[in-house]
Amino acid sequence: MTAKKRAAILISGRGSNMRALIEAAAAPDYPAQIVLVFSNVEDAAGLDFARAHGIDTVAVSHKTFATRAAFDAFVDAQLELHKVELVCLAGYMRILSDAFARTWEGRMLNIHPSLLPLFPGTHVHEQVLAAGATTSGCTVHFVVPELDAGPTIAQAQVPVLAGDTPETLGARVLAQEHALYPAALAMLADGKVAMRDGHAVFV
Ligand code: GRF
Repeated sequence: MTAKKRAAILISGRGSNMRALIEAAAAPDYPAQIVLVFSNVEDAAGLDFARAHGIDTVAVSHKTFATRAAFDAFVDAQLELHKVELVCLAGYMRILSDAFARTWEGRMLNIHPSLLPLFPGTHVHEQVLAAGATTSGCTVHFVVPELDAGPTIAQAQVPVLAGDTPETLGARVLAQEHALYPAALAMLADGKVAMRDGHAVFV
């Protein structure tokens, strides 16, 4: 196998997708290694899991920076310091500066808990239930400056069941996220998908 790609995960909270990525990357034949977990929330719950697994963590609040661009430049410097090649946003609750998104274009993924382009933004499961959708799911996509808008790499579907609440639907979607995200990162790390001219190309 060629050298594992060096990947970072950016989080802001619980970090259950981060955990799924770390667990998947522990397999000897997984094509990426997680070399850094960065959080913009200093007490994000996910940090403890990363530390317990011997992964470098950096937790610095965006509030200590004057501008979004200055904070993103700091994050970028951390990624460079750790020789990061691929970035996974996993519940990272920051709008990215255009410059940061462009720097990592084609090398940065996000997971979103709906079947994009349906239901971008926040309060996703509430949106799905209010719309009366009978199917939902999750999407892993390349990150572009526009929120939740980059080309899709993979999706997984779940049914919306009668009586679902945002919590029950969210839990059903989350179980799929935990399988989908490691699979999508593996595809990128293996060179099986790339972003070209604004599209995901499967090679
Ligand atoms: C997930 O639902 C993910 O799709 C969304 O934010 C949530 C993060 O959850 N972007 P976790 O921190 O990975 O548990």
